[in-house]
Amino acid sequence: MNISFSSIVLPRSGSLVVTATQGGVLSKTAQEADRKCGGAISRAIKAGRFEGKSEQALELLSPSGIAVARILVVGMGKPGELNALNTEKAGAMIFDRLGMSGEKQVSVAIDEIAKCPLKAEQVAAHIAAGARSRSYRFDKYRTKLKDSDKPSLSKLTVMCAKTAPARAAYASLEPVLNGVNAARDLVNEPANALFPTEFVKRARALGKLGLKVEVLNEAQMAKLGMGAILAVGQGSSKESQLVVLKWMGAPKSKKPPLALVGKGVCFDTGGISLKPGAGMGDMKGDMGGAAAVFGTMAALAGRRARANVIGVLACVENMPGPDAQRPGDIITSMSGQTIEVLNTDAEGRLILADAMTYVQRKYKPSAVIDLATLTGAITIALGDAHAGLFSNHDALCGQLDAAGKAVGETVWRMPMGSQYDSKIKSKFADMQNIANSPGAGSITAAQFLLRFIENNTPWAHLDIAGVAWTGDAKPSWGTGFGVRILNRLIADNYEE
Ligand code: BES
Ligand code: MN
Ligand code: ZN
Repeated sequence: MNISFSSIVLPRSGSLVVTATQGGVLSKTAQEADRKCGGAISRAIKAGRFEGKSEQALELLSPSGIAVARILVVGMGKPGELNALNTEKAGAMIFDRLGMSGEKQVSVAIDEIAKCPLKAEQVAAHIAAGARSRSYRFDKYRTKLKDSDKPSLSKLTVMCAKTAPARAAYASLEPVLNGVNAARDLVNEPANALFPTEFVKRARALGKLGLKVEVLNEAQMAKLGMGAILAVGQGSSKESQLVVLKWMGAPKSKKPPLALVGKGVCFDTGGISLKPGAGMGDMKGDMGGAAAVFGTMAALAGRRARANVIGVLACVENMPGPDAQRPGDIITSMSGQTIEVLNTDAEGRLILADAMTYVQRKYKPSAVIDLATLTGAITIALGDAHAGLFSNHDALCGQLDAAGKAVGETVWRMPMGSQYDSKIKSKFADMQNIANSPGAGSITAAQFLLRFIENNTPWAHLDIAGVAWTGDAKPSWGTGFGVRILNRLIADNYEE
């Protein structure tokens, strides 16, 4: 879909989108269109229970007196409550309503809204961003898609008084949209296409944005003593890979970088502790944490963020087989701590352990944030409404909470403490990889990760198992969760 900005004129073809605020108050252009079509919009509002609330819309087909195929009136809610997020939702709704409608060309009129904290050009940019995000599709494996099943909408023009600032505002949002879509692509890819070395190939392609890309193969990981990540990958014929993406957007900064670490299990069969068959296909998305870090790094580079950030992707495949690790195996992590692997399906924490040790020892980061589809238990606790947040640092939690609310990727902080930590004591090693009694599975997983945080480094763990993909697959199965919250966290707290 081509997106452009222009000044406001009533279009002579395609469809027209106008706005109304709560109480059914029509925008200036909506009033003008209403006059042209003899008051049809006002009459439709009365007939249709439309109140201008956000998430409401009203569609008039082939209105007379005006040369457009349809008029869509979009509710913007209360002017004082408009923000980036609900404006993007309105933009998404425009694509939802018109994207597959048969219409090729849509013009959206964004007039100045009285008492609205956003300028019209910002509203215009966020409308465009919301529509663009909603237009994402993953059709690369469909060979029989009929034209009538493909989006018809190919040209979206957002009209407002000041087109240059609208264009500039949209341009600053675009790298983040691209990052989200990159993450969605990675999560949507099946595991026969996206395995660790293919992940590396895609990471290397980010070099063109100005990111530095380094990769450790299994031999290099073995030299560093990364026994935990290697143990998870040893049952697979696919070589494990540790990818380091560096964005040094603040070269003069004296502050240490922020580290982001992503779980990149390209497929999680469970290993010898094999998962049941039903729904196992979802485990192609078990690299959602790595996808989020990948997308965030792409966004930071794309918008030339003035921050120094290290992204680490721990990419493995968890398979059963003659060389796979066995329940009861004791492995030695890079940190030197030994781990009794009582369940090979609790593999995410093993790979994150070594990735976190590596990034802390090499880069001495100011904070470490890991993202992982770590536990089924977090979906029981929080569903798909929030990611689980676990942390040793209240201020970092506050920043993540605020960033998440601003972009609609919300987090909910979960408790931690020694009562939970004691559940991963092992009979034979420094710790075991599952709790020795049922309950609180997401928390005991987080306690395991905390054991790999050194010198009290501020750390946050986002368990994104409930939010990395969705049941309804609209617009995409892979959500790209994580890119927007991390990008916002960095924009608000880590840029110079
Ligand atoms: N990747 C899974 C967690 C998961 C489950 C993500 C469902 C998304 C949806 C993880 O590796 C796993 O298998 N965790 C186990 C841990 C258990 C063995 C302690 C789980 O949650 O059952
Ligand atoms: Mn698992
Ligand atoms: Zn997993």
